[in-house]
Amino acid sequence: MARLLYIPSATLFFFLSFTAVLFTVACAAEEEAHGFLQSQRAVKKPVREKLSHLRFYWHDVISGPSPSAVRVAEAASSNASTTAFGVVVMMDDPVTLGPELTSRLVGRAQGFYAFASKEESALLMAMNFAFVEGKYNGSTIAVLGRNAVFSGVREMPVVGGSGLFRLARGYAQARTYSFDTNTGDTVVEYNLFVTHY
Ligand SMILES: *[C@@H]1O[C@H](CO)[C@@H](O)[C@H](O)[C@H]1NC(C)=O
Ligand SMILES: *[C@@H]1O[C@H](CO)[C@@H](O)[C@H](O)[C@H]1NC(C)=O
Repeated sequence: MARLLYIPSATLFFFLSFTAVLFTVACAAEEEAHGFLQSQRAVKKPVREKLSHLRFYWHDVISGPSPSAVRVAEAASSNASTTAFGVVVMMDDPVTLGPELTSRLVGRAQGFYAFASKEESALLMAMNFAFVEGKYNGSTIAVLGRNAVFSGVREMPVVGGSGLFRLARGYAQARTYSFDTNTGDTVVEYNLFVTHY
């Protein structure tokens, strides 16, 4: 009986030792692979991180004597493309509190959008929202994303920020408020959800 018990214990001992050796080897291998890593620890988050929801209206004015968005580049084939593929438009679009252009100016959307799809009307948006309102004057939020303009709601990543929006991250949701088929002028409602410090 004792002998019968002894054999499984030996087997167990061997198994545990073998596992320990494997574990040690695995750890050593991991340290070796990241030899440049000097230390690593969990970051204790500052309690002051905030989540902000911003809403404003973006005015893309391409008509009239003083357009806020101008075509700066295109491919030879862009005019023949049903999706304007290859066109790049630079913008300094007013951003207002309400949907009317005469509504209070809270900032400007500065950057460009490029027609980036051959199959549908989808833009690459690269813009900074530069705020001028109150304490946010001078702070910015950077958005970089895909904007399929005929979809109901388009989501784009918020990739950063400055000033009061330092280290901003989150997302923007864009909904077309109005589109003038004669002039091409567009008003889009933007809702931004960002965490920042
Ligand atoms: C495309 O059309 C625009 C507007 O009609 C025109 O100004 C531009 O020269 C055209 N571009 C090319 C490459 O044909
Ligand atoms: C925003 O800041 C700029 C530059 O500091 C200043 O010229 C401007 O008057 C400020 N605007 C508002 C609305 O405070």
